[in-house]
Amino acid sequence: MTPPTFAPGRLLYGGDYYPEQWSREVWDEDMRLMRECGVTLARIGIFGWAQVEPRPGEFEFSSFDEVMDRLAEAGVGVCLATMTASPPPWMAHLHPETLPVREDGVVLHPGGRQHYCPSSPVYRRYAIRLVERLAERYADHPALRFWHVGNEYGVHVALSYSDAAADGFRRWLQQRYAMIDELNDAWSTTFWSQRYDDWAEIQPPRIAPAFANPAQQIDFRRYSSHALLECYLSEVEVLRRVTPDVPVTTNLLMVWKPVDFHRWAPHLDVVSHDSYPDLLDPEAHIRAGFAYDLMRSLRDGQPWLLMEQAPSAVNWRQRNPVKRPGQMRLWSYQAVARGADSVIFFQWRQSRGGAEKFHSAMVPHAGTDTRVHREIRELGRELGELAEIAGTRSRADVAIVMSWPSWWGLELDSHPSWELALLDRIHDHYRPLWQAGVACDVVAPDGDLARYRLLVVPNLYMVSDEDAARLADAVDGGTHVLVSFFSGIVDEADRVHLGGYPRPWRDLLGLVVEEFWPVGDGERIDVTWEEGGVFAADSWTEDVHLSGAEAIARFAAGDLAGKAAVTRHRHGAGVATYVATRPEPDAMAAIVAQVLGSAGVKPVLADLPAGVEASCREGAGGRYVFLLNHGDKPVEVRLDEPMHDLLGTTTSPIDLVTLDTFGVAVLRTQK
Ligand code: GLA
Repeated sequence: MTPPTFAPGRLLYGGDYYPEQWSREVWDEDMRLMRECGVTLARIGIFGWAQVEPRPGEFEFSSFDEVMDRLAEAGVGVCLATMTASPPPWMAHLHPETLPVREDGVVLHPGGRQHYCPSSPVYRRYAIRLVERLAERYADHPALRFWHVGNEYGVHVALSYSDAAADGFRRWLQQRYAMIDELNDAWSTTFWSQRYDDWAEIQPPRIAPAFANPAQQIDFRRYSSHALLECYLSEVEVLRRVTPDVPVTTNLLMVWKPVDFHRWAPHLDVVSHDSYPDLLDPEAHIRAGFAYDLMRSLRDGQPWLLMEQAPSAVNWRQRNPVKRPGQMRLWSYQAVARGADSVIFFQWRQSRGGAEKFHSAMVPHAGTDTRVHREIRELGRELGELAEIAGTRSRADVAIVMSWPSWWGLELDSHPSWELALLDRIHDHYRPLWQAGVACDVVAPDGDLARYRLLVVPNLYMVSDEDAARLADAVDGGTHVLVSFFSGIVDEADRVHLGGYPRPWRDLLGLVVEEFWPVGDGERIDVTWEEGGVFAADSWTEDVHLSGAEAIARFAAGDLAGKAAVTRHRHGAGVATYVATRPEPDAMAAIVAQVLGSAGVKPVLADLPAGVEASCREGAGGRYVFLLNHGDKPVEVRLDEPMHDLLGTTTSPIDLVTLDTFGVAVLRTQK
């Protein structure tokens, strides 16, 4: 059966809507305000379970029926949740075994949300029964646009160490390894007397006196992502059966370590994403750009949905500043520029009670005569006029290679340094691409690597022989690659590829790393360019021996003085660059500029002023260039051809764009 296609034909605009928190008089006002704000989509029912099933097996849908009818009348489509994200209190009361358990044995109780162990067969049984009832009830409702399964899988409980999880883990291991000795081999259990004789002896990696077996830890992460996916798929199976033509999605949270997005993406009819950049991080917009590029890449460039963002402040960081005037609009366009076909907020109306009452909303506590609400209305109006953007796609010549199992392995204990945080290391590499205005995809090591001119490989610690060969073949065929230290070190079971690091890529890189030399906290390492000049590095150095590569920079002092820090090696029709340390940002930018140049990659627009983001979508209507000023002062940007300014007042093409602070331009080439 072909999964339904998702093509809304316009940019969807709306929010999470919780009518159950309000009276019917407020509903009347909601319907009017939604129309006035240009809302086309409401996401309802996410936390509706306790309301529709107040007692086990007794269902009361009448108020959701009414909400669905009213939204249909108001012309607002519904993304209907399957309501399984937060079980009603009766479930834990009747079945305490459904509760999640932490690695130290502490049970997590109801009173918040997501208090279920994903491996619990009892939870799953109740969830499926609810979804069957919901799907049957709303299958033909005119408001229903698509299904939203669960909510942010793994946000609070990603790893549960309950007995149900132990059972599930054992079953999953039996599938993966078939024979217990294969598991013993993969987990290197000859070490520390860990050999298993029977599957029943195996436990999740609960807190142990010493470092838990790393392969066991990685497999438990694989299993835990899989257990969450099984929950999702068990609901999807019902939805596909009852409503085969209605698309299905679930909201992927930020770039979430516990959930292997690459494994999930094939099961989503459209990728949805919740974006909450940290307003106190001066480079939050660059990190968000990476997340959006990942979302777009998960289903091969298919437009995705910005499913949640805050209209202004969140409530859940230690300090929660507001989005400054214009910032919400700017960040919304950033998602659209990088492939989103929607701007949807958490939430429509700010709650009166409960833990999220100080989270911003489209209708704030202070009402409609407020800055946030005015910005919401204005954005709804603008997006309503940009329908032609929906469905357009982007093309990138560069991809960052990223893998969840490698992330799990990289950040384990017992390493040369525990300071390698993958997202920060990716950021080191992504920042210069963003600043240069270069479009970038994010691919898995088993993805289609050869179609890119340049692959960027930040700290891909774990790689299988097959995936390592796939990357080397791509370079052989003409792709260029930039690889950073501590990549290609272990196989899928966290066993070292023997024969000098990184053994699978020694030929590709033309070198061997003999030893890792991590650097003390705050210590600065001087590195000299072969062509003259010095830069600083930190965190990591290594003892690199060249076997074909040329050094383009060398460590300047200490025991490694004169040894290679950055190298280049021709391999087949491509070139492999290796960075054996963590260069300061300007030096990293220089390295990236060099590899972009030699790979022949062009930016969306050259010579962008600092803080200006440029990205591009293309479709039948033309090529759309988005210019976004994240900086603190107005700037001018010169275009390389005259273009129509879709948000501007003039109808004739322009070739110079003035962007205010937080300003946005959406431009279209002349047809
Ligand atoms: C998440 C959840 C929402 C809400 C928001 C608040 O994204 O999915 O239910 O809690 O956070 O930021």
